[in-house]
Amino acid sequence: CGIVGVVGNSKATEILLTGLEKLEYRGYDSAGIFVTNEAKEAHLTKSKGRIADLRAKISSKVEGTTGIGHTRWATHGVPSETNAHPHTAGEGRFVLVHNGVIENFEEIKAEYLTGVALVGETDTEIAVQLINHLATTKKLKAKAAFKEALNIIKGSYAFALVDQEEPDVVYVAKNKSPLLIGLGEGFNVICSDAMAMISETKQFVEIVDGEIVIVKADGITIENAQGETIEREAYEAQIDVADMEKGTYEHYMLKEVDEQPAVMRRLVKEYTNEQGELVVDSTITERLNMSDRVYIVACGTSWHAGWVGKQLIEQLAGVPVEVHVASEFAYNMPLISEKPFFIFISQSGETADSRQVLVKVNELGYDSMTMTNVAGSTLSREAIHTMLLHAGPEIAVASTKAYTAQIATLAILAKAAGMASAKVEAEQFDLVHELGLVAAGMERLVGEKDMISSLVKEKLSETRNAFYIGRGLDYFVSMEAALKLKEISYIQAEGFAAGELKHGTIALIEEGTPVIGVITEEETGAHTRGNLKEVESRGASTLVVSMEGLEREGDGIVLPKVHSLLTPLVSVVPIQLIAYYASLQRGLDVDKPRNLAKSVTVE
Ligand code: G6P
Repeated sequence: CGIVGVVGNSKATEILLTGLEKLEYRGYDSAGIFVTNEAKEAHLTKSKGRIADLRAKISSKVEGTTGIGHTRWATHGVPSETNAHPHTAGEGRFVLVHNGVIENFEEIKAEYLTGVALVGETDTEIAVQLINHLATTKKLKAKAAFKEALNIIKGSYAFALVDQEEPDVVYVAKNKSPLLIGLGEGFNVICSDAMAMISETKQFVEIVDGEIVIVKADGITIENAQGETIEREAYEAQIDVADMEKGTYEHYMLKEVDEQPAVMRRLVKEYTNEQGELVVDSTITERLNMSDRVYIVACGTSWHAGWVGKQLIEQLAGVPVEVHVASEFAYNMPLISEKPFFIFISQSGETADSRQVLVKVNELGYDSMTMTNVAGSTLSREAIHTMLLHAGPEIAVASTKAYTAQIATLAILAKAAGMASAKVEAEQFDLVHELGLVAAGMERLVGEKDMISSLVKEKLSETRNAFYIGRGLDYFVSMEAALKLKEISYIQAEGFAAGELKHGTIALIEEGTPVIGVITEEETGAHTRGNLKEVESRGASTLVVSMEGLEREGDGIVLPKVHSLLTPLVSVVPIQLIAYYASLQRGLDVDKPRNLAKSVTVE
């Protein structure tokens, strides 16, 4: 979910709506805004669906100077207008937006709210009712009631609260969920991500878990749990507004696929010194080399990049690597080696599943690094070290350029660590040159859109399911390929280790089932071809994505040759385009697929 707020600006409605549009990647099943002014003329508007639906509902008369807004990714309660935020209590006196999950909402309901008629099914409504209950029964002002409620509420949250009796202030607090204050001239704003308010200000102030911030037009006051006032400097957000525009593209996803060669070149630039050598902060490579085992923890696409990273780090730096899904790791922790080094991979740097592992890792006192696209994100702040992806804002929900940036950055890390420990494999690997070849190869592939679009029409237009198979790095790419296809085309897809398919899953192959083989490894290519023959003889409709030098007649897509450790950087490009065209040809919303959100800040 995403939160916005503003205090002291006569364009409050427009600022909130524009802010929500920028945050739509965080959820888009329903949205709402509340605005008020000195004269207490208040308007609450909510809508199921996208921000565009909300905007269409708001008449020009809805004006105010103070307001809060929310775009939702449903957790408790179905997507509906009733369950959309803001939620109110006390006959509209208290108005609240919330991102996160309140764990003890049942207990709160039973202990404090018996007899209160609830209109929706959300945990947020419980929170605002609790604030109202404390304010009325204990005769507390908004701030005191809010503080007391925060002592009772357990779980993750970012809250923005308005008390209609004080229409010139918004109260905010956070625990685990992200929230920032932006400093404007004569007004202030609130947002889950600086991107939402970058056209209003570049100056942002962080909020720490447990604090409460009183936001007014002429300033902000940060109070810690003990009620002491905290001074905190603002920082300048490094976001280029132009990077967030779609330009002439119909979809962000296609723009982001096309940007990949430039991202490769930018990464080389960012990580090379004046002598043209790749450099990574030496404390990071030292720590990695000192460790007896690297643990990569991530979710979704970032987890898939982690698998490629394992190969890179093991081959170039010679340190064993385990790759874990974040949501499993914290509750089902493997035996940790004596000197572990943790790498969190996260495009957004905000994913709650990854963060909860980092919290535990910090409690245990282990060394950690976050590899992220967002400087200053929660995971970046809370890990000891950070490596940035330099991919520029990724807006489409389906991750593309962040995935290739993650793999390239992992390669840079692996090479630098291997160099620092004088590994021959690293010394012989001219990564700057190889990434140049990758960029050129990617450029060629993004030029093959028409061919890929017609392959998709031929192979995937009717199907309900599909398989990607490969071995080694091609298997890891197959997992990402299947995820991409599922996310945006809703074709049920599975990425499989080519050799394992015959041990059960082959039962799913029917007449016409698409099976796409990824072949970039000489050693295993013949075996994968054999596996394709097995499914073909059972009716499958196959397609081969192979690398130059390994191609055979009839292969659908031939990849430009790149170094054997970097093949995912090129093989994934046509695969991203396959997903794109499958979604487009089905008339689906490529950038905002159903049920998903780009940044999931709940566990
Ligand atoms: C969400 C997105 C995925 C993404 C995953 C991890 O589920 O829909 O595309 O891979 O989160 O996100 P992160 O920001 O941590 O890389």
